[in-house]
Amino acid sequence: MKRRTMLKIGLGGVGAAALGAGGTVGWWWSSADIDTAGRVAFNRRLAIPPLAPAHRDAKGHKVFELRAAPGEHRLRPGRPTATWGINGTYLGPTLRATRGETVRVNVRNGLREPTSLHWHGMHLPARMDGGPHQPVEPGRTWSPTWTIDQPAATLWYHPHPHGETARHVYRGLAGLFILDDPKTEPGGSGGSSLPNHYGIDDIPVIVQDKRLDDGNQLDESHPRLSEVGLLGDVICVNGTTGPYLPVTTERIRLRLLNASNARTYRFGFTDDRTFALVGTDGGLLPAPHRTTRIQLSPGERAEIVVTLRPGERTVLRSYPPDLGLNFMNNRFSGGDDTMDILELRAARTLRPSPRLPDHLATAPALAAGNAAVDRKFEMANFSINGKSMDMRRIDFAVGRDTTEIWEVTAIDDNQHNFHVHDVQFQVLSVGGKPPPPELAGWKDTIHTRPGTPYRLALRFADHSDRTMPYMYHCHILYHEDQGLMGQFVVTEPGEKPGSTSGGGSHHH
Ligand code: C2O
Ligand code: CU
Ligand code: CU
Repeated sequence: MKRRTMLKIGLGGVGAAALGAGGTVGWWWSSADIDTAGRVAFNRRLAIPPLAPAHRDAKGHKVFELRAAPGEHRLRPGRPTATWGINGTYLGPTLRATRGETVRVNVRNGLREPTSLHWHGMHLPARMDGGPHQPVEPGRTWSPTWTIDQPAATLWYHPHPHGETARHVYRGLAGLFILDDPKTEPGGSGGSSLPNHYGIDDIPVIVQDKRLDDGNQLDESHPRLSEVGLLGDVICVNGTTGPYLPVTTERIRLRLLNASNARTYRFGFTDDRTFALVGTDGGLLPAPHRTTRIQLSPGERAEIVVTLRPGERTVLRSYPPDLGLNFMNNRFSGGDDTMDILELRAARTLRPSPRLPDHLATAPALAAGNAAVDRKFEMANFSINGKSMDMRRIDFAVGRDTTEIWEVTAIDDNQHNFHVHDVQFQVLSVGGKPPPPELAGWKDTIHTRPGTPYRLALRFADHSDRTMPYMYHCHILYHEDQGLMGQFVVTEPGEKPGSTSGGGSHHH
């Protein structure tokens, strides 16, 4: 029986009144609610992913070396956990590059099965994208190269093998890719700027949830009644459980990445302090947005600046997210969960930090009025517009040098979000209304509340390739693996899309 059917029978046949009564469904119901508020001992110092070293080749290109391999990682005290990592036992180093630089990444596969590495949020040619059409066979190296051409942003990388992404990311393959852009770096006037000392006042915060068995090993089984796949009850940040961060400056920037398979977080602090949201997926916001909560679905990023007083402590917590689902789906999608994430511990004396700039970046302004094309995407039942992912099918072609409007709607009361490769988009409207402040900047992934249309403007300026597609998909990794994904190519004006092989190309 399909899980969806089971869920419906469970709900219809037992009825809401009986859910708490201690029957099987009642047990699943109550065990599905996770609350770790005040129950996490923050006694391990937060690990900071190292910056990946790079060398220059003869052409002056910046070259990184990454190798994915199995390892053993101390995810929590006791027995080490069998994991996968990149240049280490869990997660990977932080790559960093500046606008205008040409980079090459030598990606070696030290696993016993094919994988890939996708540069999430990056504007680059489709052949360099690291999606399902660029598998790296065991023992092989794949060496994509491209020129960084987008604003400063917190991007990330992770595997994207067709149907296997959830498992590969869950085992530990992921990392940050930070882009700098000196021309758009805010500040200077009046000495205002954003904290920017990596690992000191500019901190990567890669948030993931795990389920560990009694022997500390990753439980990868699909939970009962779940329509979103794996939800864990143990939080790790940068691969550390129970993490605390010593703070030595008055202000810190946290680069939050939701690198979880399915869980959506609604971040805030336990004392409900206000923080400044300064950046989202594709870069800095037009201006800091002062708020007490920021919600991130899988794949989304947020940069926040937090101000601390000497000697104080506060805890970054995830409050029950606003998923917009019916009560049953809400509970089994983590909608009722509260989870403690990371403790901030300010030193007795703090070095002063510069004031926050009032203006950060120019707001996206794609000329949406004269967009050439208007497309609709309806997500339901692991498919988009009724079609499930087919590696050999190119769903549509986009003409190079055009701006398009995509209207995306989740229509099945299940949790989804929507991610597009190659470009950052501008959110034009949410349910017919202007976007809220947190959606005012460039985005590549957006949470889609059921029944609400999201209108996005996307510009495809360059990198045409009539046979090699880019992906668009739900970033709930279980959904993505089940086929909630499609492919498009960017063609020269007037050119017809080619056909794609559907398999991988070969690598040296
Ligand atoms: Cu972060 Cu197509 O993925
Ligand atoms: Cu992506
Ligand atoms: Cu989905």
